[in-house]
Amino acid sequence: MTDANGIISAMNLSERRMRHTFGVAECAKELAKAHFPALDLKAVELAALMHDFTKEYSIERQLELCMQYNIELTEEEKANTKLIHSKTAAMLASHLFSLPSDACSAIYWHTTGKPAMSPFEIVIYLADYIEDFRDDAGCVKLREFYNKAMKKELDKTTALHKTLVKSFDTTIKYLIAEEKTINHATIEARNYYINQLNAIKF
Ligand SMILES: [Fe+2]
Ligand SMILES: [Fe+2]
Repeated sequence: MTDANGIISAMNLSERRMRHTFGVAECAKELAKAHFPALDLKAVELAALMHDFTKEYSIERQLELCMQYNIELTEEEKANTKLIHSKTAAMLASHLFSLPSDACSAIYWHTTGKPAMSPFEIVIYLADYIEDFRDDAGCVKLREFYNKAMKKELDKTTALHKTLVKSFDTTIKYLIAEEKTINHATIEARNYYINQLNAIKF
């Protein structure tokens, strides 16, 4: 497994995305400490640094990587090519930087989320949404929602699951407003975490 400097020196991202990337690294470590103290913070940091590694690659380069690593694209990814960077970044994390499989999986699912995410997948997914530098309205609202929920809820897992549901709702509403397709993993994730919350009530 590489170290942070190995990834940072290979990174070729705009200043804004670099800031976001470092923000995700800080936020993911904080989320790990608050909710999943058994997670390896070094690996969390490396996954966060890698998560948008290919986001600014051209679509041609993304598709070349898909060919090279036999990445199959879903209909949603073909329709919304922004989603592909999660898969190509996960492949490079594994093949170029030898990140462990749980870190690569967290990179792979960071855009859509999925049902029953692992602790590693949750901290990268959520940090990508609520890190301090994200300033679009949906992200700011979700960050405030999480901070309030952590103060209000007695159970930190409930606060976390409510925030995950809110994140999927925000994404789904945005995609509807933009007349874009909704990735099935996001819908399944939303249903899964709604059920987790409802199960607590019984
Ligand atoms: Fe991303
Ligand atoms: Fe990101």
